[in-house]
Amino acid sequence: MPPKPGRFDSFFRPWGLIWLSICLHWEALKEAVRRDGLAALGRPRQIRDAASAKLLNLTSGNFIAYEDTTIVPSLVRAASGTVLELGPGPGNQIHRFDTSLIKHIYGVEPNPHFEDAINAKLEKHNLREKYKFIACGVEDSDVLREEGITEGSLDSVLCIQVLCAVKDPKNVMKEVWKLLKPGGKFIFWEHGSSRNRLTNVVQVCWNPTWSKFVGCNLTRNVLGDILDSGEWENPHEIEEPDEPFSLLPRIQGILVKKKT
Ligand SMILES: C[S@@+](CC[C@H](N)C(=O)[O-])C[C@H]1O[C@@H](n2cnc3c(N)ncnc32)[C@H](O)[C@@H]1O
Ligand SMILES: *[C@@H]1O[C@H](CO)[C@@H](O)[C@H](O)[C@H]1NC(C)=O
Ligand SMILES: *[C@@H]1O[C@H](CO)[C@@H](O)[C@H](O)[C@H]1NC(C)=O
Repeated sequence: MPPKPGRFDSFFRPWGLIWLSICLHWEALKEAVRRDGLAALGRPRQIRDAASAKLLNLTSGNFIAYEDTTIVPSLVRAASGTVLELGPGPGNQIHRFDTSLIKHIYGVEPNPHFEDAINAKLEKHNLREKYKFIACGVEDSDVLREEGITEGSLDSVLCIQVLCAVKDPKNVMKEVWKLLKPGGKFIFWEHGSSRNRLTNVVQVCWNPTWSKFVGCNLTRNVLGDILDSGEWENPHEIEEPDEPFSLLPRIQGILVKKKT
């Protein structure tokens, strides 16, 4: 385990990532203008997608190493049957699946810039046959239906650091709940609003800049959004490790959709 950062260190740490992201946005902007001329300026979404893919690509190794010290690897190994991985990004979880338990995995990811990195990992881990990248959001039901992903069709949904990054977490959770079979598993490791008052004030201060450049919201009520999405068998089993000074306090667990 890395030493727990002190309060001061923890509260000022976001600046490093924000600065890196500002540089990457600038680079992505220059690249887009070089390629498409000034018309590129009319497509800010593309520039943002390119920059955030670069950011996650660059920080991927650090995240994987950090997550190895947490519950994440064992959560991912619990995915079984027909699995939907929500927002795989650069594919940091791909090597962690227990493939003997898995029939098929759908990676549902609206940012198309991740496709190459994911395909490279699938190749490396011999998962081409079992894992399909689908370039859309989980709320794009029409696209998912064409792939055979319909209400009550999934055994597991894996959700690692995604609810902070989606536009509408309540709606995403409602979709996830619907897509799961009764008895299906929602496997998650997320972060949200701190229960510590001082830490929460610091989160609120960073949030406008952090969310603009890093693309994730620090102040969400993720627990509420998960619990409100529908009925679960074991809501009391959600874990919230005590991390009073963390700007990214975790909630984690494996919820089972109520069997009717
Ligand atoms: C912080 S990254 C998570 C990366 C990855 N899950 C991991 O374990 O490292 C959040 C991802 O969610 C994706 N995302 C955003 N909105 C989404 C949506 N509506 N449906 C699915 N994924 C979404 C983003 O494009 C981004 O790649
Ligand atoms: C970053 O992107 C490059 C180019 O697409 C890719 O080859 C590499 O595997 C990516 N790295 C990670 C950690 O995803
Ligand atoms: C963060 O999420 C909260 C709750 O979902 C929302 O009210 C707020 O506007 C979001 N902030 C930003 C900067 O996106």
